Amino acid sequence: GLEVTVFSNYSPSRRELLQVGAGLVASAMVRPTLGLAAAVSDYKITPGPGRARLKGGGGSNTDVWAYDGDVPGPVIRLRQGKPARIVVENRLQEDTTVHWHGIRLPNAMDGVPGLTQPPIKPGERFVYEFTPPDAGTFWYHPHANSLQQLGRGLAGALVVEEAEPVPADRDVVWVLGDWRLDSDGNIAPGFGNRMEAAMSGRVGNTVTLNGTLPGDQNVRAGERIRLRLVNTSLARIMALRFEGHRPVIVAVDGQPCDPHEPEGGRLLLAPAMRLDLIVDMQGEPGRRYAVIDDYYDGLAYDLTSFAYAGQAPLRKNPLDAPMRLPRNPLPEPDLQSAKRHELALQGGMPSMGNMTGGGKMQGMGGMSGGTGGMAHGRAIWSINGTSMTGDGHADMLPLVTLMRDSSHVVTMRNETAWWHPMHLHGFSFRVLSRNGVPVPHNQWADTVLLAPKDTVEVAFVADNPGDWMLHCHVTDHQTAGLMTVLRVT
Ligand code: C2O
Ligand code: CU
Ligand code: CU
Repeated sequence: GLEVTVFSNYSPSRRELLQVGAGLVASAMVRPTLGLAAAVSDYKITPGPGRARLKGGGGSNTDVWAYDGDVPGPVIRLRQGKPARIVVENRLQEDTTVHWHGIRLPNAMDGVPGLTQPPIKPGERFVYEFTPPDAGTFWYHPHANSLQQLGRGLAGALVVEEAEPVPADRDVVWVLGDWRLDSDGNIAPGFGNRMEAAMSGRVGNTVTLNGTLPGDQNVRAGERIRLRLVNTSLARIMALRFEGHRPVIVAVDGQPCDPHEPEGGRLLLAPAMRLDLIVDMQGEPGRRYAVIDDYYDGLAYDLTSFAYAGQAPLRKNPLDAPMRLPRNPLPEPDLQSAKRHELALQGGMPSMGNMTGGGKMQGMGGMSGGTGGMAHGRAIWSINGTSMTGDGHADMLPLVTLMRDSSHVVTMRNETAWWHPMHLHGFSFRVLSRNGVPVPHNQWADTVLLAPKDTVEVAFVADNPGDWMLHCHVTDHQTAGLMTVLRVT
């Protein structure tokens, strides 16, 4: 069912009272110690082996890699402007790091091995300390051996709470995951298949919601839900439609926007992207309404359903309360003085249609390297003719150096036949335009999806010094060259 985190009688003081005495380092349930107990939110998360219920029938388990033994990892809840201290203890058999995706934090806390920190070796710990400046929906994942570590289950949601949340009856997180399972329900091998890497990446065959095969989501007529969507897939893009409902987008990648309904009622959610929605449950008591993902041609499926209780509606008309979230303290880029940069995204296979990796490509798994349009060596993709591969390492030379506090407009041109959710570490950027058309609703993001041949302009102030990664979040694309580094000094 739905994960209930905040009720209508929520108030910070009540919440803080509940958390007093929760202990300095919370584990499984992960409660930040706020307010009276400590000035710092303390967490400990432990990446290591775990098991998940990914097979039909409910009983059997799949071996995964997980934070605290569970997929997804615990929802980490921090408070805007309050310091956080997160201990990561590595119980994997290999090096790892944690990247706090979308959080504007000091470069040394960004979790890129070789570039911002040494990798955390098996048995070792690393303490991440930062103060999240922005409220919103973020997530965390490894930045080492990403294809396997993320693909085997290491991911979790990170929610930074506003001082004053918008009124809602419930605050619900849906961590959406995508797995490729073999016929026994185990994670299929073959990570880093070069054919897939040159196309859509490792799209799986099993979608999960908060770590399990999605069943019905129990709702009550008349309630207002704040729904936080997080796509933690390696490669699966989703396009969700809520049958019989009109979700309103109130934040993109954690950053508030003008509340608006999605174009055509379709919520496009590529890997690493988040959407905060306000959904008024205006369906009829006793009925079910499907949540449909129809991104891949001919492969629409019901992700889940809203199952209405038979109860009388909680209220007759939708809650009459504001939906607009307060803007985060993002520096506004000065477009007049901004320096302009162009990034050409290149490589991959010539178009083969809107193909999914899953079934169709598994059969071609034997083909690797040296085929037709693919580049030689490990690089399949490039940015401005240069390919950085892997997950992060010391010898990544920055593509450009930006003067601290100056404004920048980056134009990304997708010259490939594939979709790319392009992500910049350490900043949120204003999404200015797509194919020459201004992007409405005051949209900021840290990950922007480019369709084949799209040109997207984004702008930001380079206020945070350090070496910051910019890469496609289809992990096969990232590790096969669709990655670069921006240096701010
Ligand atoms: Cu979620 Cu390098 O990114
Ligand atoms: Cu990131
Ligand atoms: Cu890509």
